Parts: sequence; C-alpha cells; structure tokens
Amino acid sequence: MLQILFAVALLCLAVDADHVDEDPHWGYEGTTGPAFWPSLFPEFCSGSSQSPIDLNDDDDTLETSTNDWVLDRYDIIPDEMIIKNNGHTAQIEWTTADITEVPNVSGGNLGDTYAFAQFHFHWGSKNNRGSEHTINGELFPAELHLVHFNTKYGTIGDAVQKKDGLAVLGVMMEIAKEDNENLNPIIDGLSTIVDADSLETLATPFPLSDLLPADLSSFYRYSGSLTTPTCNEVVTWTVFEDSITISEAQIEKFRNLLDDEGHHIEDNFRPVQPLNGRLLEKIQLE
Ligand SMILES: *[C@@H]1O[C@H](CO)[C@@H](O)[C@H](O)[C@H]1NC(C)=O
Ligand SMILES: [Zn+2]
Repeated sequence: MLQILFAVALLCLAVDADHVDEDPHWGYEGTTGPAFWPSLFPEFCSGSSQSPIDLNDDDDTLETSTNDWVLDRYDIIPDEMIIKNNGHTAQIEWTTADITEVPNVSGGNLGDTYAFAQFHFHWGSKNNRGSEHTINGELFPAELHLVHFNTKYGTIGDAVQKKDGLAVLGVMMEIAKEDNENLNPIIDGLSTIVDADSLETLATPFPLSDLLPADLSSFYRYSGSLTTPTCNEVVTWTVFEDSITISEAQIEKFRNLLDDEGHHIEDNFRPVQPLNGRLLEKIQLE
C-alpha cells in the first residue's frame, strides 16, 4: 500500500510540470499531505525541531518576565493591504518594501526586533479542529499567524536561512455567536479571492492591533519551524494564551476558498510534532 502511495506521489510530482522551478506540490491530505512532507522535503521537514507542537502545561517551564511587548506601528492603518489566496491559505501582506515603514515587534523575551511580513490563517472543516498548535491537547477552530523577520537580516528571504530568522505570533481563534467586527475587512476580502492564486487589495485596510487578543501577558515560547514546506527550523514561536473570536458565518467564508484543484481549503493545519526535549516556556509578563 505504501509503495502505491509513493508511486502516486511521484506521479503527482511528474505531472506538476508547470511548476518545475518550484518545490514539489504539497497539501494537507493524501499523498502530498503532512505525513509525506518529510520524504518530499527531507532537508528540514524531517528535522527534530518541528512545529506545531502541543503546548502542554505538563511539559512547560514557568517564567516570569518584566520584558514588556513593544509593538511599533501596530496601531497604524497602512495605505494598502493585499489579500492573497495562495492555494493553501488566505494571506495578507503590506505593499511597502521599506522595513522602517512596517510594524515591528520586540520585547516579550524575543531579544531582537522583528519586522512584520505577512499574516495568514489555519482553519478546520468543522469547529472541533483547525489550529496547528494545541493547548493541553485541545485543538481550536482556527489559528492566526503573524509572521515577522529579524531586522538584522534585512529581508525575509535572508532571514529564513537563519536560526533566529523569524518570529511568529500565534493567536488561537474561538467560535462566538457574534461576528468579530475587527475581522470584517478580511472576511469581506475573502469573497474576492475565492480562486487559488488570486489576489486583491483589501477595501478597508486596518491596524494589526485589531487582530491581537486583549491580554498579551501570558504566552508560550519555544524554538521551532515553519509549519508548511520547506519547514525551515528558523522560528521563535509565541502563542498567546488569550484568544480572539470568530463567528460561524465568518469562518464559513474561509472554508469557501478554493485550492488549485478546485477543492475547498479547509483542515489546512499540520498535526503536532514531537517536542524532542526542546525547552517550552510559559512566560508571564508582570
Ligand atoms: C521599528 O519601528 C519603529 C517605528 O516605526 C522604528 O523607529 C524602528 O526603526 C524600527 N526598528 C527596526 C529595527 O527596524
Ligand atoms: Zn501558519
């Protein structure tokens, strides 16, 4: 059976000829799903410091810190935000290439200053799954990732080659009866990027602070990887204990997006990976 699956995987690579210069085709199910990433992308996806992980209070080390978050330009409204369907997720980027104009984050025991690059989401086909990280074994219906790169490397392209290259802020999303009004600019944008490889300007740009949970004082911290191929082990992860909300009607808009085979994008999360003796901290700011 495995041999058949592998043959199909190779066939899939062979027919993906219009993407010859790119990485092999990957997805979230079947022979290109997460179980096959270590063989399709052996350089990093088979590594021992992979993400996501279970953020388990049995495994974590409690830390207190006075190193408050510094969120620069998180409250400015950018001139333009672009929303993209890349076939795997909905991703939002800013247009400026000048890193002094983008928001940056420091403090929170990060050490360095990290400039904002993009944010995107992971979600389930049902509300009982969707997040990548789990908290004490619990999956959430969706997870938001705000991706930043270390300003000392200048570009995200250089940063993804470096162990301390990226900092991702992860925010769990929980279902609520009421719409989360702060998400509406994104939800409205989703209907303009239903097809894979489409992009549009968001009608209503908004500040990143609209996406953060109310309480940033308690968070998990560990060193891990990108959760999508090529799984580079370059990410300082922060996952906040506090969450934000999304309504059923709003999450349905994410589930309506289509991948490059015309299937709905859903369950676009990688299962948790082993901690393998890494330090997992739960940090409380005071
Ligand atoms: C971070 O953002 C602030 C405010 O825009 C800016 O003054 C500072 O130069 C930025 N830091 C780095 C290292 O880019
Ligand atoms: Zn992600």
